[in-house]
Amino acid sequence: MNMDKLLIEGGRPLEGEIRISGAKNSTLPILAACLLCKEPMRIGNVPHLQDVTTTIELLRLMGVEVTIDERMSLEVDASSIRRYFAPYDLVKTMRASILVLGPLLSHFGEAEVSLPGGCAIGVRPVNLHLDGLRRMGAEIRVEEGYIRARCSRLRGAPILMDTVSVTGTENLMMAATLADGQTIIDNAAREPEVIDLANCLIHMGARIEGAGTHRIMIEGVPRLHATDHEVLPDRIETGTYLVAAALTRGHVCLRDTRPELVGSVLEKLRESGAEIEPRDNAIEIRMRKRPRAVSVRTAPYPAFPTDMQAQFTALNAIAEGTGTVTETIFENRFMHIHELQRMGADIQLEGNMAIIRGVERLQSAPVIATDLRASASLVLAALVAEGQTLVDRIYHIDRGYECIEEKLLQLGARIRRLPGGPRSSGEWIQPGVVHAVGSAR
Ligand code: EPZ
Repeated sequence: MNMDKLLIEGGRPLEGEIRISGAKNSTLPILAACLLCKEPMRIGNVPHLQDVTTTIELLRLMGVEVTIDERMSLEVDASSIRRYFAPYDLVKTMRASILVLGPLLSHFGEAEVSLPGGCAIGVRPVNLHLDGLRRMGAEIRVEEGYIRARCSRLRGAPILMDTVSVTGTENLMMAATLADGQTIIDNAAREPEVIDLANCLIHMGARIEGAGTHRIMIEGVPRLHATDHEVLPDRIETGTYLVAAALTRGHVCLRDTRPELVGSVLEKLRESGAEIEPRDNAIEIRMRKRPRAVSVRTAPYPAFPTDMQAQFTALNAIAEGTGTVTETIFENRFMHIHELQRMGADIQLEGNMAIIRGVERLQSAPVIATDLRASASLVLAALVAEGQTLVDRIYHIDRGYECIEEKLLQLGARIRRLPGGPRSSGEWIQPGVVHAVGSAR
């Protein structure tokens, strides 16, 4: 884990154009889906992120061949797999490792996956994943911190998810592709990443209908074959840079992204006074004056995303008027608020609602990132604060934002990464390829 810091000088409107990377939360399940066939899969538009590095390390630990080409495309070949095991020391750094459980169990009949611990934003249980697999006939024991699952062949079953769960839906959908018979997932997550995964599985020969709706039907097939898949653009990275442009009263164009992925975010930014020009594969945003405060309430897609609430808290912190941010998905996703208050933000917390009275200016202060999207909100606040802000523990940011300082520099921000010690062990080290120390992540 690297202890780099980001030093940001506030006060400059962001201007210019950057490209949006592939979606982290689509790449992770699709890498797990490669375990469902025994031929080499090619995954394109993969973001160069710590969580992707961690997933590659996890697959390699199992004996899966993963090669990376110079355009950041991955080739994943599970034919050489020899272990169906996800160890605690990897899973504890990335809970999404749970996504290998469904594919391993469905394709190889067994899996031993460490229970993902909670994380800063909440307890993050996986009961829905395990209950669904049990309904499909899996024998699952949870002991010594590990999920031990076995099943000669899963059988299709009707599954009602009592809470909308993104990775829960993805895990069960992947498991159902090779099960015997039909599986129906009711109250399924509708996120675009679920649709992207379903499209990849369908191109591998799976029979899936209804991805993107509350009811997904999967007809099991005997085997799947390889396919090539381009990961869809990252809608949360898109939303984060849109807010950065609005916050700094700038004028920015985001390329290689899709407006329909961020409908609820665009609506709120227009309400805040931003001029938005959606294009085919791009979004242009301009903010000519101080943003107006807006109120948001998080909920499953297509409602306002929980992964964007910290960023809107930062926007409201300097907006005209009072806005509220209500978090309904996670029980502890307000850690950034204490750090923003240290920068002069006027925020009251009442249960799961933050009431934010906009101030004219934020002051720079040394702040500490606590989780991925909270750290993004601190970077956003630093872009408008007076003076220089030092954001510590930015390994959280490196998990979800590819080349954040390069992209912000390209938009005219004054930002520098201060190396905090040995580079993370998770660099994409590949025999024969020399990575310049401190190379773009
Ligand atoms: C996914 O997490 C995303 N991660 C999260 O993004 C995102 O915030 C979250 O969905 C909500 O949209 C990935 O896709 C890798 P959930 P996930 O299961 O699937 C409860 C980021 O910033 N629940 O949709 O783990 C849970 O406690 C990350 O990129 C159960 O009770 O979230 C929560 O309250 C952070 N039992 C609610 O459901 C379960 O078995 C939604 O969680 C599973 C979940």
